[in-house]
Amino acid sequence: HRSTNLTGEIAIPGDKSISHRAIMLGALANGVTEVNGFLQGADCLATLTAFQAMGVKVEQTENHSLKIMGVGLHGLSAPKQKIDLGNSGTSIRLITGILAGQPFATVLTGDASLCSRPMNRVVQPLSQMGAKIETSAEGRAPLIIYGTALKGISYTLPIVSAQVKSCLLLAGLYASGKTTVIEIGVSRDHTERMLTGFGVKLQKEGNAITIEGGQTLTAAAITVPGDISSAAFFMVAASIVPNSKVVLKNVGINPTRIGCINILKQMGAKIHFQNEREVCGEPVADIEVESAKLHGIMIPLDQVPLAIDEFPILFIAAAVAAGKTILHGAKELRVKESDRIHSMALGLATLGIHCEEHEDGMTIEGGKFSSGVIDSHHDHRIAMAFSIAGLLADGPVTIKECDNVKTSFPNFVTLLTDLGGNLEVRQ
Ligand code: S3P
Repeated sequence: HRSTNLTGEIAIPGDKSISHRAIMLGALANGVTEVNGFLQGADCLATLTAFQAMGVKVEQTENHSLKIMGVGLHGLSAPKQKIDLGNSGTSIRLITGILAGQPFATVLTGDASLCSRPMNRVVQPLSQMGAKIETSAEGRAPLIIYGTALKGISYTLPIVSAQVKSCLLLAGLYASGKTTVIEIGVSRDHTERMLTGFGVKLQKEGNAITIEGGQTLTAAAITVPGDISSAAFFMVAASIVPNSKVVLKNVGINPTRIGCINILKQMGAKIHFQNEREVCGEPVADIEVESAKLHGIMIPLDQVPLAIDEFPILFIAAAVAAGKTILHGAKELRVKESDRIHSMALGLATLGIHCEEHEDGMTIEGGKFSSGVIDSHHDHRIAMAFSIAGLLADGPVTIKECDNVKTSFPNFVTLLTDLGGNLEVRQ
């Protein structure tokens, strides 16, 4: 529902990408890894359950704290059943890299969305390393991974993807010799940072990252920063709802993730970092956001991979900004949890916003939201993005199929309500 203004301070829940990696590296390490600020979202819990099914013991100490009893690089055991990774692309793509080099076979599967997403992007390079992986039709999950000996390769990623890069670096731990991944654009570097924190040596030369197989991971203490991808919903909300001022505490501001802030600032947003610090090798800050008059921009191509998960909510900002916002170079949005270009275009049109889909992006003409009923396409970020649109619409915005919000942001509704957002949840 339309809301007057958003004010207050909230703590943003743990980063999804970093929480996944904490479980994976903690499981493969020697010793006990303690994780604070773990995101209890369904995606990260799917990763956790997968490693438990492969013999890793995990103790939940407090609400968001875990102790992972590492089994060492070669300590995983064959799961009794296939592993279901739900909606989580990061889980399936990274775990495939780990499982390719195990002495046992596994089957990885997921929900309808995950089983429709492309997996050849990891299966092809892993096959070059010697992996034996059977996919379903057109390179989709379920995947059958027959663990084999792997050999290091040098591979230039054809797309910008942290999931593919991370998959190959993790497989590289099991490969003989060196594995080199060459990137054609910048993607999030949490895997590299965390591997280093676990004592693994990586060589970085320009856009090439090399890992030598057989290295030991040593358990570490990890504090997970708040997820900038979750914070982005409130950055946009506070920017577009008049007379708002919010502080988002403890948010990761890794330079490979701050595309959404760079883009919003170019659109005129008032966003400031306070209390900048480094926590476990990741930069963190409290982020202050005030209402501002936004204007449309041509989104710089180099910012696209740095904001790839934030386009649903950036489109909401563009929809109320003065003038046109144009996005190109974002074809990857078509193979996320839903086709995010199409899901957003349909929803924006429903709320009376003029927009034009491009194969690799969208042009959005700033306007005013009317009321309407939105199909989220079971995509968490589409559901949350349109709930922010509802705060400004001239009548109620109803969003269907919101269950998947729990994959990345289980307390989204509570936090938005705490800031003064007016929304109700109907089962
Ligand atoms: C992620 C990488 C990105 C991102 C996803 C999380 C990761 O995917 O969209 O939400 O944790 O490595 P791609 O690698 O497909 O770009």
